Amino acid sequence: MKTTLTEEKVFKDPVHKYIYVQDQLIWELINTREFQRLRRIRQLGTSFLTFHGAEHSRFNHSLGVYEVARKIISQFERSRYEQWNREDRMLVLCAALLHDLGHAPFSHSTERLFATDHEKWSCALITGETEVRRILAQVSPDFPEQVASVIAKNHPNQLLVSMVSSQLDADRMDYLLRDAYYTGVNYGTFDLERILRVIRPHEGHIVVKASGMHAVEDYLMSRYQMYWQVYLHPVTRSGEIVLRNIFRRAGELRQQSFAFPFLPAPLAAMLDGTLDVEYYVQLDEPLVQTTLQLWQTCDDKVLSDLCRRFHNRKLFKCVSARNLNSVRLNELAQMFDSLGIPAAYYLQSDDPGDQPYHEYRGGEAGQKLPIYILDENQTLAEISKVSEIVRSLSGMNQEKQPLLFYPADLLEERGIVNVEQWISGGGG
Ligand code: NI
Repeated sequence: MKTTLTEEKVFKDPVHKYIYVQDQLIWELINTREFQRLRRIRQLGTSFLTFHGAEHSRFNHSLGVYEVARKIISQFERSRYEQWNREDRMLVLCAALLHDLGHAPFSHSTERLFATDHEKWSCALITGETEVRRILAQVSPDFPEQVASVIAKNHPNQLLVSMVSSQLDADRMDYLLRDAYYTGVNYGTFDLERILRVIRPHEGHIVVKASGMHAVEDYLMSRYQMYWQVYLHPVTRSGEIVLRNIFRRAGELRQQSFAFPFLPAPLAAMLDGTLDVEYYVQLDEPLVQTTLQLWQTCDDKVLSDLCRRFHNRKLFKCVSARNLNSVRLNELAQMFDSLGIPAAYYLQSDDPGDQPYHEYRGGEAGQKLPIYILDENQTLAEISKVSEIVRSLSGMNQEKQPLLFYPADLLEERGIVNVEQWISGGGG
């Protein structure tokens, strides 16, 4: 196989200005049907219901992660770091490009319901009967498995893993900048070029040299802001909850052999838990949205109502559930049921701790490897030990509070006017 393209390919990109492709292999991977599918999966799921600009796709982001990885590698090569092995270049580029290949439509709403864990599916698409696997296997028969193991984080060389997935990785550096750009928020920006200059490989992972600490503080600050202002936005979460309840209801109806007016085979397989690689590749957001549009008039009252809500952005209202104990929640659920509003689909408490996005916390058990600062004496310190800013940022977990979501309009229709007061137990 020819390794270098005769002519470099360039993608115009709003975040990195240009994305450069010099390798035949990368070009061929981009042109596979599995990678092209990512054009039809939004990067931020239901965030477009909150920030109308957030329509950017996983395709968009995946190219960006590839470009950041490419820049990290060229910085390593220019600096001639001994710990960087040039032979790993293509492996890291492929893992960066393909790391999100297995995202399901609106994956934050569906992953737990239907076992569509995106990392597992990325690996399944890379090693299964796919165009991607055939192209990767031209490098060597075990190359698809190697790429998958970097994405699954079990590759023996953890430096490669940490370039794609760590606290300061190509994935996060792209999505913070990209999501800030497309949502139109003013925070979320940091100096990527500067960070690329101050990171280096050290004992099997990426560390930051001491003089670069402030650039990383800025990055962690932007991550903190994005976490609270964008990723955990209550309207976005409300959209996710409505969607999750649609799929849950549909799954239950499916088990009762309900006659759906429209049910494409890949979606049926998702509801049945029998997805295979071929159906997975056919599953995308246009297909799901068309299905929900047609379910608006189906014979099930709950399903049709939830689909109308999602389609027309009539989402659930959200209030703080901080003062609601489980006894009050149970009472509320019973009241909802007695009003003919099934609480199972219309009353939902939601803990922000369950979200896939996390702000930085230094060295917490089960978290990704923390960020280390390397000083002139070659000693390492976890960043919150040496930075006041990071220390206070990582201690700010107390803001997290559970929220309660419910359709205020249905309660109002039943004469409950002061819904918030009624919810908190003060009558109404
Ligand atoms: Ni990603």
